Amino acid sequence: MAKDKTAYVCNNCGQESAKWIGKCPNCGQWNTFKEIHIAPETSKSIGEKLSHGVMGYANKNVPQALNKVSSTEEVRIDMLDAELNRVLGGGLVAGSMVLIGGEPGIGKSTLTLQTLLKIDKRMLYVSGEESPQQIKMRAERITNVIPDNIIILSETSLERIFAHIKNVNPELIIIDSIQTIATEAVASSAGSVTQIRESAAALLQLAKASNIPIILIGHINKEGSIAGPKVLEHIVDTVLQFEGDQHYMYRILRSIKNRFGSTSELGIYEMQQNGLRPVSNPSELLLTDEPKDLSGIAISSTIEGVRSFLVETQALVSSAAYGTPQRSATGFDQRRLNMLLAVLEKRVGFKLMQKDVFLNIAGGLRITDMAMDLSVISAVLSSNVDTPIETGWCMAGEVGLSGEVRPVSRIEQRITEAEKLGFKHIIIPRNNAQGLDHKFGIAIHPVGKVEEALRLLFG
Ligand code: TYD
Ligand code: MG
Repeated sequence: MAKDKTAYVCNNCGQESAKWIGKCPNCGQWNTFKEIHIAPETSKSIGEKLSHGVMGYANKNVPQALNKVSSTEEVRIDMLDAELNRVLGGGLVAGSMVLIGGEPGIGKSTLTLQTLLKIDKRMLYVSGEESPQQIKMRAERITNVIPDNIIILSETSLERIFAHIKNVNPELIIIDSIQTIATEAVASSAGSVTQIRESAAALLQLAKASNIPIILIGHINKEGSIAGPKVLEHIVDTVLQFEGDQHYMYRILRSIKNRFGSTSELGIYEMQQNGLRPVSNPSELLLTDEPKDLSGIAISSTIEGVRSFLVETQALVSSAAYGTPQRSATGFDQRRLNMLLAVLEKRVGFKLMQKDVFLNIAGGLRITDMAMDLSVISAVLSSNVDTPIETGWCMAGEVGLSGEVRPVSRIEQRITEAEKLGFKHIIIPRNNAQGLDHKFGIAIHPVGKVEEALRLLFG
């Protein structure tokens, strides 16, 4: 038997190296290189042996002229879940491999199982973590009628899984989770980078050869970098991240890589007693129902993916108890908060140097839309001067370093959403106001500078 070769792989980004290095040249992280054993059989041959040998699929890859390649649309499977379909880019592409990553307990198995329960196809659910009884109990929480087209398999050996796939002949395969699967071809234990890479690569070969889509479930920890999903990102076609705060019932499904769709898409769910409920109107969750006269709250008209919704920004400014003031942001980029606070100091003349500033986006949501800037600044100021913003007001606008309010994308959609939810006033960037020809039933206040917005809100 040929001797095992070793290589080093970055846990964070999957970069490979022949020798150990302290700092990853690709992602810049320190101490992320881990030794892996490369089997004498490369991953390609494991996959090939299994999908061509065991499964009997012919290798279809032959050189062909580009202009002869058929460019028909991909075949997509309707997942019967509007949120999931949108995040996937319009359904699950045949022959694709999708990774659903997330912290343990967030609801990955629940989301997958409740989707399977609706789809009328022969499916193989391979669980390396739970017994068939546990999966049955979960299914019973979700529905009273369990269809007969879902085949459950408790198995962790890749070779045996392939043998069962051949017998079951499924139209969709789920692997829960990839960290529990191991192939005999490599010596290291299940969950190691080597095993995850080899097993996933072999499954990918199967997906491509057979055109059966495969959904992999993968655990990540708080830092998002435990061996696995990061390494897998290179291998799979689509990476969906399932995230949320354990203390809130809302869950966000985010697309972070998609060979077959946009990566700015977002699906929102609410965890209930009987599974995850798709939330088609996110504003319903993100705004607290009754209007309240509290300082430190500003409402922003936000867009994530293709959807607009209104979200509450909450800020608390208080005198720093210790020498160095604290700045903390939940659901918003901390560095961006620091930048906005500097703008408030320098351009608007508010002294926040000796103050603690806490910022929170309601609902445990993480927002990346730059148009949040204006509401962050307004919420901070509202808390600082202890003056509530009048109900019925909302805003959207990016703030630049000199305190200018910069234009944002799709302003009409933001205004329409605010109007739909009964808001009476919206502050928007002046440069966005020019092209607006619609008649809106909401008062529009264009501003060019942060000061103008603050004058409108606080007089
Ligand atoms: P699970 O899907 O097992 O998480 P993961 O696969 O990501 O580890 O879901 C875990 C949590 O969801 C668990 O704490 C119980 C809860 N849950 C509900 O609240 N309602 C339900 O209908 C189900 C099935 C689970
Ligand atoms: Mg699970």
